[in-house]
Amino acid sequence: MPKVIFEGSTLEVDAPEGGSLADICDRHESNVPFSCRSANCGTCRIEVLEGDALLAPPEDEELDILDVFAIKAPKFRLACQSKLVPGPGIVRIKPLESEF
Ligand code: FES
Repeated sequence: MPKVIFEGSTLEVDAPEGGSLADICDRHESNVPFSCRSANCGTCRIEVLEGDALLAPPEDEELDILDVFAIKAPKFRLACQSKLVPGPGIVRIKPLESEF
């Protein structure tokens, strides 16, 4: 099962079925900030430090916003658009909002 590790906090979450990263963030009060939740604002930008293969590939809307911020998948993603795929491994992420 994927385990999501949130850098900058002590939060680690097992996500046995995969699913929406935003839902996981909400359920566990993560340190990832959100605003629009629809690939418009970029508030939820994250750096994927480990385990990008456990995130489903980004859709065009997500890629467009990443381009606006001059960052690229798979190293950078929008947490509001990212979905975990089922399977073993670790996904280590770090929110970027405070760095821009
Ligand atoms: S919260 Fe606005 S792009 Fe994710």
